[in-house]
Amino acid sequence: MSSRENARRAPSLDLVSRPRRNRRAEWVRRLVRETTLEVSDLILPLFVVEGREQEEAISSMPGTRRLSIDLAVRTAERAAALGIPAIALFPNIDAALRDDGGSNAFDPENLVCRACRAIKSEVPAIGVITDVALDPYTSHGHDGLLQDDEIVNDASVAALVRQALNQARAGADVIAPSDMMDGRIGAIRSALDAEGFTDVLILTYAAKYASAFYGPFRDAVGTTKTLIGDKRTYQMDPANAKEALREVALDLEQGADMVMVKPGLPYLDVIAKVAETFEVPTFAYQVSGEYAMLAAASANGWIDGDRAMLESLLAFKRAGACGVFTYFALRAAELLRASA
Ligand code: PBG
Repeated sequence: MSSRENARRAPSLDLVSRPRRNRRAEWVRRLVRETTLEVSDLILPLFVVEGREQEEAISSMPGTRRLSIDLAVRTAERAAALGIPAIALFPNIDAALRDDGGSNAFDPENLVCRACRAIKSEVPAIGVITDVALDPYTSHGHDGLLQDDEIVNDASVAALVRQALNQARAGADVIAPSDMMDGRIGAIRSALDAEGFTDVLILTYAAKYASAFYGPFRDAVGTTKTLIGDKRTYQMDPANAKEALREVALDLEQGADMVMVKPGLPYLDVIAKVAETFEVPTFAYQVSGEYAMLAAASANGWIDGDRAMLESLLAFKRAGACGVFTYFALRAAELLRASA
């Protein structure tokens, strides 16, 4: 008797529902799948440095590099060829250019503006997202202006508006304020509109938490050693979810086109709530610390890195995100294309 017949004759439970029937073969698993991850869901963050043909390893983010503009252009070409819709630029500027007021952020010839112009002229089809926050430019490593041990709100917003205009003039498609000052979305929207940049999008980091998972990013942009104190007077308390909804509501009222929750996996509940409540394009940021955890476990052979990575990205889609910022974007796109 075959083992199959044996199994048929074995006493069986009297079950009407056997959910496993829908999982019994790949064809039916594909048929009933609720969520898909596609290349068009991926946004690639890129770290940029001065120089030519320059790539610098980032030790806490194995596999990720800071690139000079020429190499960033080539990476943008590769991303576009793979079908990745957009990249997000983050500069690591010379320490000598950092000052109290973050003045380099307003310089039309700064690193990010030059990178933006180069990418928009050579790879026009890819969307370029620039980060609005002063931290890569300030000597104290904060996203706003520091006065008497305090990050002052309204003066910071004025500076962020100047930074946003500088980026829009350099051709940025999407302005992404990641600073968490109050009122900056409205101020940036009206300044953009007043200069005729009505087509420039605003993707707001609306619910950005004061997270330990940003550690490797601060290495990447060179603020680990310079940051004075922490960012808890402006970034959100990890304990709060309802407050995230208020933050998102405010940014939408002020004209945000897209919203983001950050970090990613530890905040899937927040992503789900935001996506359900507002039904606007909602993005997740799988941040540097999340990348580092997956990359380290994979390098040690403790997890199957590719599978864990795709599973983590799919989880954002299941939670309701319409896209994900991820340092894995190129690898994920290659895998998705190979399996398509
Ligand atoms: C700064 C900024 C941070 C990140 C993106 N923009 C760090 C911070 O707030 O200190 C984090 C991204 C990451 O960890 O991958 N405005």
